[in-house]
Amino acid sequence: MKVSSFAVFALVLVLLMVVSMTSALKLNIQKTSSPMAGRSNVVIKKLNIQPHSLSVSGISSGGFMAVQFQMAYSAAIVGAGVFAGGPFFCSQGQMAYAFDQCMYAALPIDLDSLQQTLQQYASQNVIDPIANIKNHKVFMFSGTSDNTVNPSVMKALFEQYRKLGVPAANINATFTVPAGHAWITNDYGNDCSITQSPWINNCNFPGGQRVLGAIYGNVTVGKAQDSNLFTYDQSNSFSGTDMDSKGYIYIPTACQQNTQCKIHVSFHGCEQGASYVQEQFVQHTGLNEVAERSNIIVVYPQVSSGQMFSNPNGCWDWFAYSGQNFANKQGSQMAAVANLVKALGSDIIV
Ligand SMILES: *[C@@H]1O[C@H](CO)[C@@H](O)[C@H](O)[C@H]1NC(C)=O
Ligand SMILES: *[C@@H]1O[C@H](CO)[C@@H](O)[C@H](O)[C@H]1NC(C)=O
Repeated sequence: MKVSSFAVFALVLVLLMVVSMTSALKLNIQKTSSPMAGRSNVVIKKLNIQPHSLSVSGISSGGFMAVQFQMAYSAAIVGAGVFAGGPFFCSQGQMAYAFDQCMYAALPIDLDSLQQTLQQYASQNVIDPIANIKNHKVFMFSGTSDNTVNPSVMKALFEQYRKLGVPAANINATFTVPAGHAWITNDYGNDCSITQSPWINNCNFPGGQRVLGAIYGNVTVGKAQDSNLFTYDQSNSFSGTDMDSKGYIYIPTACQQNTQCKIHVSFHGCEQGASYVQEQFVQHTGLNEVAERSNIIVVYPQVSSGQMFSNPNGCWDWFAYSGQNFANKQGSQMAAVANLVKALGSDIIV
């Protein structure tokens, strides 16, 4: 290499370094070492979050968790997307009810009693006023081949939303696809009717897009960027019973550069946290593709397996393994996720 061309080469290299340093400085987030292969850990701090933009989604135990989070923090929430979950407080804190009423539907669900619990919790200020819920937008999906959470349980959730005053026009429900027990996509996972790990099925149905579309209206699908998916520490006030040491968060490029963004939390199902399926759930629900183009931050809190007789399968708590307050603001997992969302800048009332 001649000296002159080496000088040009060196100059270009320095320029490139300056450019990449400047763009790193423009980022409103702080990255630290990467404990997982190729994945940066991010320090949770306030981002520019649009007021009143928080929404949730989930599948199975994460679907029940999404519903209880939606109803407990209803003042800040604008909507929820639920795959194969069920009504608020369906289990009434009892494992037997969880199985008999809320999964296999061998016994009917007593919606009047659940409504009384909602009213009682609201009067005790352990959940926000339930009048907020009627303004929420809802997406629901239950497959006709789901033998894990019987479709009638999701129909009971539909009735619960109606009882709470949600207009039918605000509920986008799909109960006719012959899908197994899974989060549904149009590009990833098992065959549509199957029920097995990773509990993501390709049914030619863009689940992530439908969830965010039903909640926020006009959303656009783009390309997710792998470098925008981070881990964060689920420690201190971001941790609750059986929660893993790390959670995941997808922060679109624009949201890292201080553009005002919406915020969505998605709860995995049992045996679907990263300790079971690695990054399949946090990468392949179809949420990140929409998030990148539509400026939505997506948080994926993580649970891992706990005690043999309470939570052996890494489920979110919808049946009281963390205590009887599992479904209200005093529940340890509920509080952990609320604290995290608040630390990111949401107007949630913890
Ligand atoms: C749900 O939303 C999708 C996409 O916008 C739409 O095609 C479908 O008709 C809606 N279904 C209901 C029941 O509103
Ligand atoms: C939807 O969003 C796109 C892109 O942001 C925008 O060009 C379009 O006008 C929006 N449509 C509606 C109906 O708001």
